[in-house]
Amino acid sequence: MEGIRILATGKALPKRYISNEDLSKIVDTNDEWIRSRTGIEGRYQCDGTGETCITLAVAAAKKAIEKAKIDANDIGLILVATSSADYALPSVACMVQKELGLDEEVMSFDLSAACTGFLYGMGVARGLLHFMTKPYALVIGSEQLSRIIDYTDRGTCILFGDGAGAAIFTLDEKKTFYQKSWTRGNKEALYCEGTGREDQHVRMDGKAVFRFAVTALAQGIHTVLEENEITMDDIDYVVCHQANMRIIDHVKKKFKGYENKFFINIESLGNTSAASIPIALNDLFDQGALCKGKKIICVGFGAGLTWSAALVEL
Ligand code: UT7
Repeated sequence: MEGIRILATGKALPKRYISNEDLSKIVDTNDEWIRSRTGIEGRYQCDGTGETCITLAVAAAKKAIEKAKIDANDIGLILVATSSADYALPSVACMVQKELGLDEEVMSFDLSAACTGFLYGMGVARGLLHFMTKPYALVIGSEQLSRIIDYTDRGTCILFGDGAGAAIFTLDEKKTFYQKSWTRGNKEALYCEGTGREDQHVRMDGKAVFRFAVTALAQGIHTVLEENEITMDDIDYVVCHQANMRIIDHVKKKFKGYENKFFINIESLGNTSAASIPIALNDLFDQGALCKGKKIICVGFGAGLTWSAALVEL
């Protein structure tokens, strides 16, 4: 099967920024604890004046389309990875189609795979692009996690932030593309009962998720390297799901000498779930780090439990 190319990315963040200090006024925590356990200094949160999962997704998508310099009506697929959609139905993706003013000849749906959602979305887009008559797929990770976070639970509320990242993909036979994904049916480690239930908040066994994450990320990277018969010398960047700086630090230790290839931007964003990898890709593009020919490993994990690793060539 042909590879895919990322034409451009975009990101959108809410206006309101919540520092650790701000959080310590509403829950029993402190800046030192949060920084030392997670590497997080602050996170963005929808401000209650109309910012939502949909508006963030639309804003990120508009930036990606503008940078890609494409006719938006050449997009045949809108896929939004999210766990915090505005509505049970319609999907966020359908509202993105409306807000972008696209014609009706486009497939639009949301994908539920928690923090792994964007990576799963990338694989789904690649598969569907082969059957589409239009050349581009718009894949978005968008989260308004603040809707489903319990701000009295200091074990979770310090971690998560709102935001969206978007990418435009197209098929390209000259590009390397590889992806492997896993699922381990598990509800205990990380779950949210959801709309209409008594408890609509994210609940997490932090230590269990931490242990799983370190193993899953390392397994993902090793699998990409082994199955493509390459080494870390062939890779320019590793973009991990930004869940906790300490998780990424643990994984880095398993790839001695290559620590500087691991991109980190969690400090000011927190864990934005499905949005974390596309936002990281966008930040790398903005820094001018992702020119043509660069090879990156994207690796993510999340509730499900799910995890996925991909090799992408720019
Ligand atoms: O996208 C996937 C999302 N999830 C993750 O990536 C989660 C992965 N796990 C983690 O990031 C970490 O487990 C946490 C950051 C959530 C927690 O760190 P930890 O080192 O596992 O702390 P802990 O839950 O074992 O708690 C240690 C202590 C406890 O106090 P005692 O019992 O030792 O007195 C907690 O009550 O720290 C206390 N604590 C806090 N103290 C201040 C827990 N949360 C806080 C807090 N501020 N926010």
